Amino acid sequence: MNNQADSLRLIVKQMKNSIQAQINKANKGTRVITISSGKGGVGKSNVSLNLALALTEFKQKVILLDADLGLANLDVILGLTPAYNLSHVIDGEKSISEVIIEGPNGLYLIPGGSGMQELANLKEWQLENFLTKLSKMEGKADYLLIDTGAGLSKSVLSFALAADELIVVTTHEPTAITDAYGFIKSLYQQNYQGRMYLVVNRVPSPKEAAVVYNKLQIAVNRFLKHNIEFLGFVVEDTKVRQAIQEQQAFLLTYPQSMAAQNIYTIAAKLSDQEYQLEKKRGINAFFSKVAQYFR
Ligand SMILES: Nc1ncnc2c1ncn2[C@@H]1O[C@H](COP(=O)(O)OP(=O)(O)OP(=O)(O)O)[C@@H](O)[C@H]1O
Ligand SMILES: [Mg+2]
Repeated sequence: MNNQADSLRLIVKQMKNSIQAQINKANKGTRVITISSGKGGVGKSNVSLNLALALTEFKQKVILLDADLGLANLDVILGLTPAYNLSHVIDGEKSISEVIIEGPNGLYLIPGGSGMQELANLKEWQLENFLTKLSKMEGKADYLLIDTGAGLSKSVLSFALAADELIVVTTHEPTAITDAYGFIKSLYQQNYQGRMYLVVNRVPSPKEAAVVYNKLQIAVNRFLKHNIEFLGFVVEDTKVRQAIQEQQAFLLTYPQSMAAQNIYTIAAKLSDQEYQLEKKRGINAFFSKVAQYFR
């Protein structure tokens, strides 16, 4: 290998091969993973989208649900202009299959509706629509990733609490770390039962990510008597902002960028057989639990 790009390419190729072998052996069923944060703007949507795309490259069928109904923007990041979104599903005008759009790499995206009311304030009939229609996705994908808004609103907490697996995203800023801790604390006070992972975004170096993880893990362990697992980090990378300007996913436009390599590493860790083999309750169980919290 005569340059860094070549060696990165090789690492990604080897990773994809080994992951594919593990996945083939692993059990079927949809893994439902919620992506949330305490503070806003820490990179949830970018992590969700690029992670979803990395998983599709591992030959996984992935649905990405934009559940940030106030400020839905996954479609904007991808430069797509969907005719319909989740609000049409909730109002009973459209079915999920009419709303779902196919993005790059065969990724399925369910666009959120900008400026919509809080999901948790839905009327009973809207909630029923939401539930019965989303439940139709059962068995249709290997992964359902759910990008939520930030903070302690009822709908964000409901999506997080109902998850078997939750990725908390933070940056290394003290405010983001404090808010991440507050978010995690609130979940455990409400008896969160699933697995919890941390992704540290926009770090200057891997070392900084480890520092952030240790701080949070120690506090979560000592004061909440729980654990949070380190899933990975994404460095501060100008290619991320460049890709956003171009309305493209950085994983596809700049696959050699450090940020893209970091996302592949996160996807690889998530696909690890150990995680794959654990019990998956699936989409229906997830959404009925979400509804319980909404009610
Ligand atoms: N790794 C990174 N390197 C450089 N810039 C980044 C990185 N990650 C995110 N950003 C910047 O942060 C901005 C916010 O990212 P994003 O929209 O993914 O955050 P979010 O947590 O989803 O926000 P919200 O809480 O509003 O939903 C991006 O538009 C981009 O400019
Ligand atoms: Mg977002």
